Amino acid sequence: MTHSVRDNIIAAQDSHPKGRRRQKFTDIHCHCLPGLDDGPGTMAEALALCERLVAEGIATIVATPHQLGRFDGCNEAAKVRNATSELNRQLQKASIRLTVLPGGDVRVDERVCRLLQTDRILTLADGGKYILLELPHEIFIDVEPLLTELAALKVRAIISHPERHNALDRRPSVVLKWLDVGAHLQITASSLLGYWGAEAHRAAWHFLNSGWATLVATDSHDIDGRRPRMRAAFGRINKRLGEDLARLVCIENPSRVVNGQDIVPISVRDQQEVGR
Ligand SMILES: [Fe+2]
Repeated sequence: MTHSVRDNIIAAQDSHPKGRRRQKFTDIHCHCLPGLDDGPGTMAEALALCERLVAEGIATIVATPHQLGRFDGCNEAAKVRNATSELNRQLQKASIRLTVLPGGDVRVDERVCRLLQTDRILTLADGGKYILLELPHEIFIDVEPLLTELAALKVRAIISHPERHNALDRRPSVVLKWLDVGAHLQITASSLLGYWGAEAHRAAWHFLNSGWATLVATDSHDIDGRRPRMRAAFGRINKRLGEDLARLVCIENPSRVVNGQDIVPISVRDQQEVGR
């Protein structure tokens, strides 16, 4: 890690009122609302997932049910806000110490900007600054025009799990172009542990190593196969790339997203990795 990156991280951590050692994880990508998408089917299942998130050391999450794509017209902003309020009520009743904020896992679509402006889809934590975008798995789409359109609205895109899209691996120059127009990359914790296969595992570490990915999230759906694995991913990053970077991508930057602050960049772009 370069001196400047380390300085960036420490400056960001020092500005946190509670100090770096006492910080908990923030999860910006989680399918925890009951009955809305392919996450928990019932409130009991949702509460079980939330308990698991707390056990992972997570204190704040953004509920990100799928929006658009195969859930087009199902999970509009008002419905997600109401479901989030209800989950927070139930968490309080059950004495589960987790704060849930509204958001969406928005499938890339040419209507995204219009639907944002008409309050049909959500930004992360309803803050207006970041939107979580899911690329289609079937085909490759260069989303640069959408990213530019979003930038004009002062909204920054966070591309979810780029490591699970093989097409991106073959197009590093396209990924760099997206980063240059203000996009951020979010790696899924379980990809770093190998749960999405060898290709996603290798790509996830490549994105982190090269400094392109600045965020890690659980993308958890349940307490079984797609359970949150933040603590294990943090431990693995800590071991391979050091504690400063682990804290930046798992704690500091996710917290900045929910607070509407700028994400701290990792300015190292290893040219050997780019030309790989
Ligand atoms: Fe997701």
